[in-house]
Amino acid sequence: MALDSNPDWWRDAAVYQIYPRSFADSNGDGIGDLPGITSRLPYLKRLGVDAVWLSPFYPSALADGGYDVDDYCDVDPRIGTLEQFDQMVRALHQVGIRVIVDIVPNHSGSGHAWFRAALASPAGSAERARYIFRSGLGPEKSQPPSDWTATFGGSTWEPVGDGEFYFHLFDRSQPDWNWDNPEVQAEFKRILRFWADRGVDGFRVDVANALAKDFSADPLADGERLAEIPSGPDHPFYDRDEVHQIYAGWREVFDSYDPPRAAVGEVWVDDPARRARYATPAGLGQAFNFDLLLAGFDADEFEAVIQANLSLAAVTGSSSTWVLSNHDVIRHASRYGLPDPANPSQRRDTGRHWLLSKGQEPAEDVALGLARARAATLAVMALPGSVYLYQGEELGLREVADLPDAVRQDPVFRRSPGYDVGRDGARVPLPWQGDGPSLGFGSGLAHLPQPDWFRDYAAAVEADDPDSVLNFYRRALAARRDLLARTDVAASGFEWISSPAGTSHWTRGPWHCLINFTRLEGLDLPPGRLLVSSERGGPAREELRPATAAWLLV
Ligand code: NOJ
Repeated sequence: MALDSNPDWWRDAAVYQIYPRSFADSNGDGIGDLPGITSRLPYLKRLGVDAVWLSPFYPSALADGGYDVDDYCDVDPRIGTLEQFDQMVRALHQVGIRVIVDIVPNHSGSGHAWFRAALASPAGSAERARYIFRSGLGPEKSQPPSDWTATFGGSTWEPVGDGEFYFHLFDRSQPDWNWDNPEVQAEFKRILRFWADRGVDGFRVDVANALAKDFSADPLADGERLAEIPSGPDHPFYDRDEVHQIYAGWREVFDSYDPPRAAVGEVWVDDPARRARYATPAGLGQAFNFDLLLAGFDADEFEAVIQANLSLAAVTGSSSTWVLSNHDVIRHASRYGLPDPANPSQRRDTGRHWLLSKGQEPAEDVALGLARARAATLAVMALPGSVYLYQGEELGLREVADLPDAVRQDPVFRRSPGYDVGRDGARVPLPWQGDGPSLGFGSGLAHLPQPDWFRDYAAAVEADDPDSVLNFYRRALAARRDLLARTDVAASGFEWISSPAGTSHWTRGPWHCLINFTRLEGLDLPPGRLLVSSERGGPAREELRPATAAWLLV
């Protein structure tokens, strides 16, 4: 099956996120690679996804898992070559799977040729003007220009030894680009074209809301912290109005291709209405909705998130995105098994990655977490919009909470020693089989150690169990594809059906989705044909048990 020609494919796609270094290792060096991805094509095909999104595979010092890009138009030699990239794209396209690559425009890696040139050039030079350099404060110019705290901890400013500092929102190895500089603007259009010309179907845009910055109001060493300013037009970096001019320019690039290239922005913005501005047809077209990462497993919270996002998508002409896991957050099978924090700010931290503070890992209810994860997954797959799945969730993987300090790689851990373990627990290489040095990931040891319990979750082990999470995902994705192709589903809107407290029920024409969020009460299923159930073995009775979901054709 080759690719269809539908330019709107992204609107309801099931997109599978590959974290390349941890997916499949073809050469035994412990690091996943592009030939590894190509070798797992039958698996992806059988899973039934419409597209894959590859996290960065570019040359990088790997100071932030590849989100520190040293060359935007090449492949890290540990991960492959451009030729292997082309082979992978061709092979994926041949089986009808589209390819989205990750673009990291807020910052480069500190090994990027332009950053090295900036360091080698004097203050005030054209080379430094591509990044954000400022003079230090104080008689010796030894104090940072402001006392802002970077996202990964520590100062946002790094001294370079000549009285100047450069700015980095994330790690010190990730210097921020100066998006006021036309050279930077032109360079990123060139990069987009480089990948679009190679047949890439879409782009995931990293920290899409942070490119436009205003340093004119630097609160110079006055004690103000970035985190206290809400994102929006008054924030110096996050979600300023000018950022949309950049994406209007990118849209011209996307639309110069047939079919137009798709894009989805990573936009952690406080106000959902402002987030929607990234998702207009004149902009990126789609923006990630991370609201379910911050919501508890709760009918009211789910319904509020669904309603708000469907309404926003209708206003912008976009389609919503549904995300339960990615490489930055605690895997949802774990999140749903942890005690739900009452305090919203702690909830935010749980949703992202910070709750598993060192030495304070809360007890996890494994069975409950997995049952809820299956139910929530079935629910989001039944919503209008596209669904983003993160590698390993289809195996039911949980967070690996107990990695030894010595093997942790995430700069979040290094920059906050002692209280934040970082995101490595969601990035442990996949188990493909129940034995072998890295459980089929490769012929050598994996770059992050896999725990023993991964054996039971190996793809080959699960493939043989009709009730496994893997076979549940396969059934759900196949049924979703059939349902979306039905004219009576396509012609029908989304409608809520009233249901008992603690449960939700909606329809899209004949397609009904019911989810029971409660811990104790069963929910009567309406008459109809049961298509998929999240419960192992399917509902034994005509009753939807606690923490399960089902699809019916009525
Ligand atoms: C968001 C990415 O998803 C995350 O992994 C990365 O650390 C930051 N952006 C910085 O690039």
